[in-house]
Amino acid sequence: MTALARNLVIDTATTEFATDVVAGLTGTPKRLSPKYFYDSAGSELFERITELPEYYPTRREIEILNARVGDIAALIPAGAALVEFGSGSSTKTRLILSAAQSLGAYVPVDISAEFLQQQATGLRREYPNLPVLPVAADFAKPFDLPETTQAMTRAGFFPGSTIGNFEPHEAAAFLRHAGRILGAGAVFIVGVDLVKDTQVLQKAYNDAQGVTAKFNLNLLTRINRELGGKFDLAGFEHHAFFNRERSRIEMHLASLKRQRVRVAGECFEFRAGETIHTESSYKYSTETFGALARGAGWTPAAVWTDEDNYFSIHVLKCAG
Ligand code: SAH
Ligand code: AVI
Repeated sequence: MTALARNLVIDTATTEFATDVVAGLTGTPKRLSPKYFYDSAGSELFERITELPEYYPTRREIEILNARVGDIAALIPAGAALVEFGSGSSTKTRLILSAAQSLGAYVPVDISAEFLQQQATGLRREYPNLPVLPVAADFAKPFDLPETTQAMTRAGFFPGSTIGNFEPHEAAAFLRHAGRILGAGAVFIVGVDLVKDTQVLQKAYNDAQGVTAKFNLNLLTRINRELGGKFDLAGFEHHAFFNRERSRIEMHLASLKRQRVRVAGECFEFRAGETIHTESSYKYSTETFGALARGAGWTPAAVWTDEDNYFSIHVLKCAG
C-alpha cells in the first residue's frame, strides 16, 4: 500500500469514527459502539480481562474447546480456510490450528489493525506451514476474503460471545452476512455466553482490579487522542449491571457531575449521573440462540456447554 493510500484509509476510518461519535453523543440516551473499544491499548486491556478471576467466559469456552477439539477438527474439511471473526490474540484458535492439520489457510479478521498484524507475525512463526492471511475490517460490513482463499471451502469461527455485543436483530443480520461470506454448506462454530446468576454476571464486568473499568474508559482516551476530544477521565465512572428483562449486561460511562465536553468541534452537555451506553453483552439460552441462528438461515447441528452451563459453543451449518 502506498503512503497516500495508507493515509486515505486512516482518514476514512477516522472520519467514520468522528461521525459515529458525534451521532452517538447527540442522541438520547447517549451511546457509542463497542467496536471502538479496540485500538491497540483496548486489545491489550481485553487480553488482561480474559485472565481475570471474575471473567469466566474465556476459561469456560477454552474448557469446552479442549473437550471438543477433536469433534471440531473433524467438522473442518481438508484444505478449508478457517475464517475467524474478531480474532484478537487467536489464543482459542491455536487449539483448533493444532488439531486440524490440513487447513488451507487461517484468515483472522479484526478491526484492531495493528494488534492483528502483530498477532499474525507470531502465528506465522508458530505455524510455518500455514498461510496466515489477516484481514483488517469491520466484520459486520462487507469485506473481501484474500484472493488465494477464493477457491477454498470455508469454515467460520466466532468465539468469545462477541456475537452477544450485537443487538439480537443485528446478530441475526450478522449471521446471514457470515453465511454469504462462508458459503453454502459451511460450518460455523460460535461461542455464546449463557444466562446465569446475576452476581456471577455482574462480577465478571466489575472486577476487583478495575481492568474492565480501564477498558471502558479507554474509549474516552481514544476519542481524546484521535478526535481531539476534551474528556476529563476523572469526570466519568464505569458502570456495569445485568438487565435481566433484556437479558444483557450493560456497560455505561456515567458522568460524575454536570459538564460540557468538546469532541470533534462539537460541544456535548452531560447532566450529573447521565451515562453513555458503551456496550451490551447479551446472554442467551441454548434454545434462544439456536432459534436466532435458525431464523438467520443456519441449521444448528450441535451445542456443547461446560458442566455448570455457564457458556456454550454452537455448531451451525449453512442451510443455503
Ligand atoms: N476472539 C477472541 C477476542 C474476543 S474480543 C476471544 O474469543 O478471546 C472481541 C474481538 O473482536 C476483538 O479482538 C475486537 O478487536 C474484535 N472486534 C470487535 N468488533 C469488531 C468489528 N465490528 N469488526 C471486526 N472486529 C471486531
Ligand atoms: C468481546 N466481548 C464478548 C466481551 C464481553 O464480555 O461482552 C467484551 C467485554 N466487555 C467487558 N468485558 C469484556
